[in-house]
Amino acid sequence: MVRKISKAAVIGSGIMGGGIAALLAGAGVKVLLLDIVPFDLTDGEKEDPAARNRIVKTGMDGALMAQPPLFYSKKDAGLIEIGNLTDDFDKLADCDWICEVVVENLKIKQDLFKRIEAIRKPTCIVSSNTSGIPLKAMSEGLSPEFKQHFLGTHFFNPVRWMHLLELIPGEETSRDVLDFIEKFGEVNLGKGIVWAKDTPNFIGNRIGIQGMGKVMQEVVRQGMTLAEVDALFGPAMGRPSSAIFGTADLVGLDTMAHVMENSYALCPDDEERDTHVLPDFVKKMVENNWLGNKTKGGFFKKEKNAEGKKVKMMIDPATCEYVEFAKADLPCLTAAKAAETPAEKAKAILYGNDKGAKFAWSCCANGLIYAANRIPEISASIVEIDNAMKWGYALETGPFESWDMIGVNESVAKMEADGMAVPEKVKAMLAGGNESFYKVEGGRQYFYDFETEAYKPVKLSESALSLATCRADGKVVKSCPSVSLVDIGDDVFCVEFTTKMNALNREIIEFMGEVKDFALENAAGIVIGNQAGGMPGAFSAGADLDYVLGLCKGKKYAEMDEFLTLAQNGLKEIRYANLPVVAAPYGMTLGGGCEVCLGAADKIVGAADLMMGLVEMGVGLLPAGGGCTNLWKKFFFALPEPVQKDTDLAKLFVPVFMAIGMAKYSMSAKQAFGFGHMNPLADRIVMNRDLLIGEAKKEVLAMVDAGYAPPVKKPVPVMGEAGAGMISAQIFNMFSGGFLSEHDMLIVKRIAYVIAGGTVKEGTPIDEDVMYKLEREAFIDFAKEEKTIARIEHMLKKGAPLRN
Ligand SMILES: NC(=O)c1ccc[n+]([C@@H]2O[C@H](COP(=O)([O-])OP(=O)(O)OC[C@H]3O[C@@H](n4cnc5c(N)ncnc54)[C@H](O)[C@@H]3O)[C@@H](O)[C@H]2O)c1
Repeated sequence: MVRKISKAAVIGSGIMGGGIAALLAGAGVKVLLLDIVPFDLTDGEKEDPAARNRIVKTGMDGALMAQPPLFYSKKDAGLIEIGNLTDDFDKLADCDWICEVVVENLKIKQDLFKRIEAIRKPTCIVSSNTSGIPLKAMSEGLSPEFKQHFLGTHFFNPVRWMHLLELIPGEETSRDVLDFIEKFGEVNLGKGIVWAKDTPNFIGNRIGIQGMGKVMQEVVRQGMTLAEVDALFGPAMGRPSSAIFGTADLVGLDTMAHVMENSYALCPDDEERDTHVLPDFVKKMVENNWLGNKTKGGFFKKEKNAEGKKVKMMIDPATCEYVEFAKADLPCLTAAKAAETPAEKAKAILYGNDKGAKFAWSCCANGLIYAANRIPEISASIVEIDNAMKWGYALETGPFESWDMIGVNESVAKMEADGMAVPEKVKAMLAGGNESFYKVEGGRQYFYDFETEAYKPVKLSESALSLATCRADGKVVKSCPSVSLVDIGDDVFCVEFTTKMNALNREIIEFMGEVKDFALENAAGIVIGNQAGGMPGAFSAGADLDYVLGLCKGKKYAEMDEFLTLAQNGLKEIRYANLPVVAAPYGMTLGGGCEVCLGAADKIVGAADLMMGLVEMGVGLLPAGGGCTNLWKKFFFALPEPVQKDTDLAKLFVPVFMAIGMAKYSMSAKQAFGFGHMNPLADRIVMNRDLLIGEAKKEVLAMVDAGYAPPVKKPVPVMGEAGAGMISAQIFNMFSGGFLSEHDMLIVKRIAYVIAGGTVKEGTPIDEDVMYKLEREAFIDFAKEEKTIARIEHMLKKGAPLRN
């Protein structure tokens, strides 16, 4: 039998159920979303189907309205049928997977599984999204057949955005079911799979919440402020900027308390059991209903001061009262700021001497020891723990990777000097001459296995190609500070940007030229991609605006023209070179990043979370690295040839103009299809970002196998003089309605002129180089405008567009 999930049911339409339903629909699965009939129906409502579905409808609406969005495309909602657990229960009979996501209550879950057992088809997989109730308890008394098909599928909130999916096998779950869900979760749903044991709170929350509990206790003991703690535990140590207390506000203090209580109650032998007890000030906050962002305040809040100005406030742990937020000023933070690499930053904090460093060390060292002590209790290996913490808590490195970064020998010596109980297995690892938890050898990553006291290969699926591993294995064939060319095997090479936010600069553009020469001689094909991490992360956030601003302010228009020509030609030459090129964008793929994909690649293999668009208009510019030209070409040449001949160009012109003139960017790869930056017939979506480079490589090899021939350069018909008229009424209306400023008007009119190919007669085929020149001229004219310069400066300072 070949398993497939054609129809799934999600039971419970709350925060998690709505998110899981949206994700499944995004993967093209038909979903039945069920919830309870409201208890409080009036007599008149009792027979009314709409009233009976009120709870599930509210859940569905919540998922549709959620920010950040839970759906990849709202059209996916068409795959979801809603219903209730009384009238529609029979519809579960033809589901391939039933995922239970109801309130965290053992009795309710047990009763539900009993009902499901009676109706499920023999092959149907049943899972629970419980955060911490043991599977054994939930499936007690059910048949062996049910238990063979039953497991835990623990998604994290928000479901679309958190990469982690913990899978928890029951004692009797069949191997075939586990293997199937692992693959389905990884490939179809795009999740990072972590195998957890059936222990309270599984892996991510067991470790994550202990770490938070420890910090909350120490903050009182060591007299730190919340601002200081969050500055220490934020980006400076490779953690999200919400750090500890900001994250607790996001999650909700009640939820956090619930998970802690669960660990405390169910793990009586935990050596750190006391860290699962909330300190008094947090208990008081929960009593006061200061639960975080969902209430009026949590550890932080904003309020108006006496002068009516909004100020940020934070809790003073000593008094449990709000005080004004005061930015942290600690020597170890200054040292970390000056440090270059993540490892140096972490060392600057953890091995410093001030009170901040001492605080950070006491909490981190405790966390590292706690994580090591949880093996084999909650997980078979260090890899599961590291992945759970990276994917569920958005850390850049998991505990054992961080431990390697700060040096295992050095840190263990410090722990011992401080009287901490270093786990025997870590001491044994060092005594055996093994100085790190991970190592790379022969292109493979290995982890240290405590049980066998030896290194074992990290298990990766076939497409999960890691550029970091290639790099560690000496596979970089060419590099400069901004970009590298990495040998990813089978004669395929990856162009990997390495600047901040992968912004495109002159060095990258010049490198592209060298790549072409190298690749023509040595490569079967090229992937353009990187794995910078973070959520949403950036394939490339666009051109290096600092450099552009310098050119504008210095009035260096000749240099600007030369730079733009270099970029246009660099991308064009790769595109027409005799080797397949696949771009693998994910996250922010904006401005120049989008132009690279449109201009250089034969095919785009985009991650599901792609935010793609030509957004130059936001900084008073237009795409002039070939973006206007190549989007127009993409639209036109997507048409079948017989249609190209006498097509109504206006039908293409308006959407291309709107995409560029309104700086539209997608919030998913599906939306990129909708906007035309990707083409469903040529390009493809990969749900799992970890598999993106590997899948892009497969596409390169498939093109090679199919006998690749480069595209032939052809003139493209344009809208010409009719273009301006086509959009003038629309522009005028938007200006009158206040949607466009005068400066916007100036820019969008010129954008229309460029996309129209100038003032030629409608339908005239023109050479792309003519359009490239129009792009450059417009760009330089915009660069002369004070308002454009103000926009660029604003973007650089505030990270947001200025309307002027
Ligand atoms: N919220 C999170 O961050 C998170 C993360 C991971 C796992 N979980 C787990 O997911 C599950 C759902 O959590 P949530 O946050 O979505 O909760 P929620 O409160 O948002 O939703 C729970 C849903 O259960 C339904 N429900 C209530 N009583 C019911 C009953 N008697 N029978 C059937 N359904 C009933 C409710 O109508 C509601 O739609 C829980 O097991 C929770 O532990 C939550």
